[in-house]
Parts: sequence; structure tokens; C-alpha cells
Amino acid sequence: MKIIFIFVIFISFFTLRNAQNQSCAPNAFGTPEAVSGSDGVAPQSAQCSPCPANTGNSNGASTAGDVSQCNLCSQNYYMTQQAITGSNGGVSSSAQCLPCPAGSGNNQPPSNSGDISQCNICQNNYYMNQAAVTASSGNTPAAAICTICPTGSGNSPGPDSPGDISQCNQCQAGFYMTKLAVVASNGVDPTPAKCNACPANSSSLPTSTITDISSCVCFDPNAAPISTSQASCICANGYFGVPNTSKNQVSGCFPCNINQYSTQGASCTTCALGSLVNPDNGGCKCIDTSIGTLPWSADTNTCKCDKNYYGSPSRSTIGQTGSCLPCPNGSTSAIGSQLITDCQGYVATTFQNIIKVSIGFLLLMVIVF
Ligand SMILES: *[C@@H]1O[C@H](CO)[C@@H](O)[C@H](O)[C@H]1NC(C)=O
Ligand SMILES: *[C@@H]1O[C@H](CO)[C@@H](O)[C@H](O)[C@H]1NC(C)=O
Ligand SMILES: *[C@@H]1O[C@H](CO)[C@@H](O)[C@H](O)[C@H]1NC(C)=O
Ligand SMILES: *[C@@H]1O[C@H](CO)[C@@H](O)[C@H](O)[C@H]1NC(C)=O
Repeated sequence: MKIIFIFVIFISFFTLRNAQNQSCAPNAFGTPEAVSGSDGVAPQSAQCSPCPANTGNSNGASTAGDVSQCNLCSQNYYMTQQAITGSNGGVSSSAQCLPCPAGSGNNQPPSNSGDISQCNICQNNYYMNQAAVTASSGNTPAAAICTICPTGSGNSPGPDSPGDISQCNQCQAGFYMTKLAVVASNGVDPTPAKCNACPANSSSLPTSTITDISSCVCFDPNAAPISTSQASCICANGYFGVPNTSKNQVSGCFPCNINQYSTQGASCTTCALGSLVNPDNGGCKCIDTSIGTLPWSADTNTCKCDKNYYGSPSRSTIGQTGSCLPCPNGSTSAIGSQLITDCQGYVATTFQNIIKVSIGFLLLMVIVF
């Protein structure tokens, strides 16, 4: 029991010790932990400061120090002078760094002083016309010469050796690729990947392969999928409104209520009596689709009988069929007729019956008298 208790104390001690073992954040220098004073040395409180612009360090200072802890250049800078640790009254300084010329850069933040040839790669979305030149007898050092890729095309990582415009062999986010880059060969000029912009308020992931417009996704999660037949952002079926125009915003497309439909962001419409909303929420379907009924259409949003039929499919309930009956032989009706008396010619048939009855009556009279 006692041993366990001691063990717990022991573990706690190390946990605490670890928690206290602080470093400054990456690219900061200073005094990560308070230092207590001793003979002739003033105490220091913990204080980290950011490195001067374009300089840094990889892990952040872990022991008390000064600006010379900023001994790296930021990526895509070159180092003209190493950090200096002041001693014997000398002044400390961070590394001295200059930006790489247009589009050139480096893979790692430079840690040693050098010259402009530390800019020996091209940054993302540039192609390399000429490699960096290191200083040597007769050579002036030079950075890699880089040219920006044509609209939408690019690369990541950027090239580290010279080439041509076919180094622009990807499409950047927000573009889709219609044609691959072509590498120069006998008589064939190099070409970059051909990249088309996604529709307004949509985006796509970078790609190295052929894609089509459907790889673009609207910012608004309730927008309809983009396709060749729907090349802009509109609200999906069953949502009304206008899609939001930026990422991570409240949706501008609001869902319709139950048994309502909407297309292209229009206001929601309740499905006609006798019809149910389609699974895609873009229209309805009459419950009774048996012979004599007209299919549902957005133009009318009613369930009714075809011509030469009569009845009330708008009153049909799930599973019901035969809501529309044909007009009696020889008679006709207009679309949407509801009653047998709407069948034109039906009256004539009745008239025929009257005549039959009358003839019978006349015969009866003849017999009686
Ligand atoms: C404190 O951090 C440094 C650097 O991260 C590490 O080397 C050292 O082991 C740590 N010490 C303790 C006691 O955790
Ligand atoms: C959304 O589209 C509109 C219209 O094209 C445009 O003005 C706006 O900049 C777009 N928003 C974003 C974030 O792309
Ligand atoms: C887009 O989102 C913003 C912020 O969430 C909101 O204020 C704005 O009304 C939204 N736009 C539309 C069209 O709903
Ligand atoms: C309608 O005509 C068809 C054939 O001409 C006949 O078989 C049917 O019985 C008739 N129905 C009525 C209600 O008269």
C-alpha cells in the first residue's frame, strides 16, 4: 500500500516536471521558463517573443536566449548572414534574410549563410526555365528562373529542376482539367494542363488527372450537384432560396415542408390532392396512375382524368386505381371531366333509352286499347 502511494507521488512528480518543461513556440525566442537569480545574475521571468520578420527556428527556443535563437531564414528566403550570438559585449543578431526573386524558393528554411543560389527551386504553380547557378570561378550566383503557370494550371510541389511549361501538369483547386499537359517531343511543343474554372461559388480539389465540371462542388451544402446540364449553383430540389456565396456560411437554401416540391430554388409548392412528392423532391406523382388518368405535371399540379374519361383521381388514396372511368360508348369528354354527365353524347344515349321506353309504352297502349 505504502509502496503504491510512493509510486503515485513519483509518477505525479514526473508528470508535473514534464508539464513545466516549456519551450517557446516555433519561430519564437526568449526565456521559456523563469530563471531564478543567483550570484550576480538577475532573475528572468518567462517571456517569448516572435522572431524578426522572415527569420525563425524550427522548434522554438527551449532554453533562455536572445534573438540569435532565430537562426533560420523563412522558406523562400536566402541567408546573407548567419545569426550572431553576442558575447563579450558584442551585439546579438538574428539570421539576415532576403526574399527569393519572383517565383523561386527553397525546400527547407535555409540554416546557413549563402547567396541567392539558395533559391534553387520554383514555388508551387511555377515552372522552371533555368536552374539556380552556384558561385564558382567565373559564375555569378543566380536564383532559379521561374515563370508562373497559365491560369488554373500548376503543380505542387514546385519543380526542382529546369523544364518547360509542361511542368504545369496539374489543375489548381477551383479548376477542372480538360486536357493533360503535353511534354515536348520531336516536333511537338510542350503545353500545360488545360484547366477550366469551376462555376461561381463552387470549388474543386487540385487534380493531376482529367476531370469534368462535376468535380466542382458548390460552397452551399444544400445546392444541387454541378453537372454538364447544371453548370451553376442553384438550390437542390426540395430547397428554396439562393445558395450562399462563400464557404462555411449558413446555407441560403431552406428545406420545403413535407409533401412539398421545389426546383431551382423556387418557393415550395404543396403536391396536389391525390399526389405524393417524388423521392427527388422536384415534383409529385398522382397516387392513381391507372388507365384514364393524366400523369402529374408541374404546369397544373392537379390529378385529373384524361379526355373521354370522367372521375376524381384527386380524391384517390394510397393503393387506389380506377378513379377515371371511360365515358359511355360513343360519348366524349374534355380533360379533367369529373361526372358522367360531362361526357358529351351521353345525353343522346339517354335520349335513345327514352325512345325505347316510349316505344314500349306505345306498344303497351296498343295492346291495352
Ligand atoms: C524538456 O524538453 C526538451 C526539449 O523538448 C527535452 O529534450 C527534455 O528531455 C525535456 N525534459 C523533461 C524533463 O521532460
Ligand atoms: C459568388 O459568385 C458571385 C457571382 O458570380 C461572385 O461575385 C462572388 O465573388 C462569388 N463568391 C465567392 C466566394 O467566390
Ligand atoms: C450566407 O451566410 C451568411 C453568414 O452565415 C449569412 O449572413 C447570409 O445571410 C447567408 N446568405 C444567404 C443568401 O443566405
Ligand atoms: C359499348 O360497345 C361495346 C362494343 O361496341 C359493347 O361490347 C359494350 O357492351 C357497350 N357498352 C355499353 C355500356 O353500351
